[in-house]
Amino acid sequence: MRHGDEPEIKAAIREWWAKAPMTYAETHGEVEYRLPDGSMERVELGSRRFFELADAVFYRWNDPLHDATGKFGRIFDYARYRGKPVLEVGCGMGCMASNWAAQGAKITAIDLNPVAAAQTSRRFQAFGLEGDIREVDAESLPFAAESFDFVYSWGVIHHTPGIRKAVEEMHRVLRPGGRIGLMLYNRDSLLFRYFVRYQEGLINMESRFLDNLGLASRYSDGAREEGNPHTWPVTQAEVLRELIPMFAHPEIRVLGTDVPEALDTWWPRLGRRLPLSWRKALARRLGWSLWITAEKARA
Ligand SMILES: C[S@@+](CC[C@H](N)C(=O)[O-])C[C@H]1O[C@@H](n2cnc3c(N)ncnc32)[C@H](O)[C@@H]1O
Repeated sequence: MRHGDEPEIKAAIREWWAKAPMTYAETHGEVEYRLPDGSMERVELGSRRFFELADAVFYRWNDPLHDATGKFGRIFDYARYRGKPVLEVGCGMGCMASNWAAQGAKITAIDLNPVAAAQTSRRFQAFGLEGDIREVDAESLPFAAESFDFVYSWGVIHHTPGIRKAVEEMHRVLRPGGRIGLMLYNRDSLLFRYFVRYQEGLINMESRFLDNLGLASRYSDGAREEGNPHTWPVTQAEVLRELIPMFAHPEIRVLGTDVPEALDTWWPRLGRRLPLSWRKALARRLGWSLWITAEKARA
């Protein structure tokens, strides 16, 4: 894992994500979406329609995580935190934060890039939601110690060079007995091992031109966009040993919603042809996302 306070890298990360924010459009950072009938629709960034179309893609990708209690209800206990302070680290366009607000949590959402903070504020205004949205670095949170009951982050802190510092900050602002939820990319996944390291690194010989971090940053985010300054997936062992040893009762679940698509890059339509039980077994072992939960020990 990489640690450190590197202002130039941080500025590059902020700028890259501001230029190509997490819109979930056909092309990373753009605002054109494919509709169910196959046609394309271009929308204005920040319009109501933009948020609806971005959410539709994001929810579709994460379909197995929703339940009757709400979107992502299988991993988020909305009822437990109703009326309580919850922090999202790296909110992107505010999709998850808005669900927490609608479910009655006192949500605070931060992101390093100004476009994400502005668009999340805009979303909250457009949908009449309340929340405290700020442009802030995860590695230096401007909140008092022990001020949140739940702190979560979805697909974010593997993009910051001081990943351990970000976790320490999440730990500091949590109340004793409070919980953390972290989604981080998995280096032991089918997508990383096969698509990034083997296909792009070895077969396409990209590892002759890019170091490991360069290869991961360029290819592992699914975006295949040049210029992503920092994406470094983790392993489960690293998480337990190096990242969250200050927490109690850690649990890690491998989420594999990406597995059918990753198999398709290997052999067309393979992902859909495999029996569901095989897909599930592969997803549990080789999925792209690690969902990490733990508790801040009571003194
Ligand atoms: C892949 S997007 C995920 C956004 C959102 N969680 C989602 O799932 O749509 C990564 C986000 O991390 C943010 N980010 C990267 N480094 C950060 C840092 N040090 N502090 C806060 N946010 C950061 C980026 O600005 C970007 O919005």
